[in-house]
Amino acid sequence: MTGVSAPTLKGHWLWGNLKDFNTDNLSFIESAANCGDLVRIRFGPMRGYFVNHPDHVCKVLAARSKSFRKPAVVKRALSDILGENIFTSNGAAWKRSRQALQPAFHLRHVERYTQIMQICVERELQDWRAGSVIDLEAAMTRVAMHVIVETMFDAELGESADELSAIFTRLFHLAHRRMKRYALLPNWLPTESNREVKRLSARVRDLLRGFITDWRAGRAKEASLLNLVLGPKDGARMSDEQLINEAITIIGAGFETTAYTLVFTWLALMQNPAVEDKLYAEVDAALGGRRLRLADIHALDYTGRVFKEALRLYPSAWGLSRSTLESVEIGGVVLPRNSTVLVSPWTLGRDPRWYPNPLRFDPDRYLRDNAREIPHYAYIPLGGGARTCLGSHFAMLEAAIILAAIAQRFRLRPLPGSATGAKSVAFTLRPDGPMRVELQPLAHSAMTSPAAPTARAHRAMRTSDSTVCPYSGRIVANAGAIAR
Ligand code: HEM
Repeated sequence: MTGVSAPTLKGHWLWGNLKDFNTDNLSFIESAANCGDLVRIRFGPMRGYFVNHPDHVCKVLAARSKSFRKPAVVKRALSDILGENIFTSNGAAWKRSRQALQPAFHLRHVERYTQIMQICVERELQDWRAGSVIDLEAAMTRVAMHVIVETMFDAELGESADELSAIFTRLFHLAHRRMKRYALLPNWLPTESNREVKRLSARVRDLLRGFITDWRAGRAKEASLLNLVLGPKDGARMSDEQLINEAITIIGAGFETTAYTLVFTWLALMQNPAVEDKLYAEVDAALGGRRLRLADIHALDYTGRVFKEALRLYPSAWGLSRSTLESVEIGGVVLPRNSTVLVSPWTLGRDPRWYPNPLRFDPDRYLRDNAREIPHYAYIPLGGGARTCLGSHFAMLEAAIILAAIAQRFRLRPLPGSATGAKSVAFTLRPDGPMRVELQPLAHSAMTSPAAPTARAHRAMRTSDSTVCPYSGRIVANAGAIAR
């Protein structure tokens, strides 16, 4: 069946849906999802489609993936920050990068990073004291930055973690701003923000150069991720600048995504006491008070499902984009060549058709019998198809180690006025308020089951309600008028 037309999301006659998209990404994609499974959208002159059915998503990411590429606007926005990189490259260049990087992220290698991850989280926890208040967002970004840099170089990051985190966050913010304007202006134009990108990129390169020097001198041990990615011989042949590009790409991919998924995992745990109790009991039963060993991961099945559920409700990469290389038929609609296609793990993961009671935080959705009901491409927080996340094992292992290490020591309790949900900032999701939490001592030692906590400041997670948007729980302000 062809020749069918998709509904169009109502927008301004000149700039189409651009203003709505830029004002609030999440509200925009929820409006589009409420409009249909395949919806025409327009950002100024750029025509595109919002795709929101697992079968259609499968076509975009997997079955017909050769007919799609990463949009040029993404490449332009990031080119002087990431250099030539796996994220924005296409065709043969992408294949080369993927083949080079893939072995280092194989499960059997990723497991070698357990010890480094363990050291990073314990270093962070050294200063945590029962009764004190911490900024969880800062703590998780700091520990995720330590983990990614220290596994890469097998060297201690020291004091630079906060600075590097802040710079990466700012660089992505600036890149996103460029995308909002289609990256129409060339990156070499000395605008204020282009100058800032240049200055910050230079600083990142300076910080990483020191590690490269040590790495070349052979101080990094065999286990370093960079050794695995490049192989000591190839690495030695590469220029410092090439090595720095590789490092920046891996940090860019793996730091904010993991850090914020951890933040949201804690947010969900604090809002769901029964889930929290179960996770604490599992960690206690599996580890007691001792350090996690690789073999323990299998005993932390519930903890893994908690992280998986946090990824569903709070997919840090809330939107994936592609552009058609040729005309492609999806659901009877022919998408012309050069159409932009937007897919959202956020709306797919909150769709009541695939997830009954979607706003309920329920790690048991992934128990074998229940998981059968979930279509494969309804769960894409780590992407899908050939370009699926390379760091998924890495992120899962890191999350288990960090969650367990904290759960062995403290309960986290939000201060009044803390975040209750998510908002989108640039390419990733962020909590919609501060994440300052009080560290409460465990009622018993880590060797025994913790008692159920008494007071909980926040229980903002709501169950689905037919009068509100199924995706966000918000009253739908603009469900998107449909014109055919
Ligand atoms: C919870 C944490 C993470 C999330 C939510 C996440 C999410 C994603 C998603 C959605 C994609 C696909 C993008 C697309 O198709 O357009 C992706 C790709 C990628 N991720 Fe992750 N990621 C995470 C952690 C990591 C880590 C820790 C690393 C590395 C250490 C990493 C490395 C990569 C790379 C290299 C790609 C590009 C793959 C390709 O284009 O072939 N990610 N990630």
